Amino acid sequence: MMVDFVLNGRAVSCDAPANILLLDLLRSELGVLSVKRGCEQGECGACTVLLGGRPVNSCMILAARVEGRSVTTIEGLRDEPIMVALRKAFMEGGAVQCGFCTPGMLISAYALLRDNPSPTPHEAKTAIEGNICRCTGYALPLEAILKAAEMTPAE
Ligand code: FES
Ligand code: FES
Repeated sequence: MMVDFVLNGRAVSCDAPANILLLDLLRSELGVLSVKRGCEQGECGACTVLLGGRPVNSCMILAARVEGRSVTTIEGLRDEPIMVALRKAFMEGGAVQCGFCTPGMLISAYALLRDNPSPTPHEAKTAIEGNICRCTGYALPLEAILKAAEMTPAE
């Protein structure tokens, strides 16, 4: 089965099994290893990507469903001011420990700050409620997201 879609702003065409998940298409076929394989049940958020701009769990989506659509991972957001601020805030705030949850959490946080540049603590908490972190206890990532909101220049 051919899947044609846009990955991080570039058109890709991929020959893949008909039942392959988006998570596996990204990791195994396209080598995008920032997208993590955690629970594979839609529970942990480690596999979060943007599909058409919205955060989704790529382990819950057949690759065939992204035909003609746009998929974004953290690689595609490298130079986005919001992501730059998030990375800086996460690093300086000690919000990364093992880092397994971090790409997915950054995607969720990016989507939050893109749509809501000045979130409340509750809104930030809600935005990452689908991203399980076994290391940090969430306090430092939440602080980092709110810090990044302060650092991000107004559009
Ligand atoms: S691996 Fe997809 S939600 Fe856990
Ligand atoms: S930093 Fe280890 S799972 Fe979040």
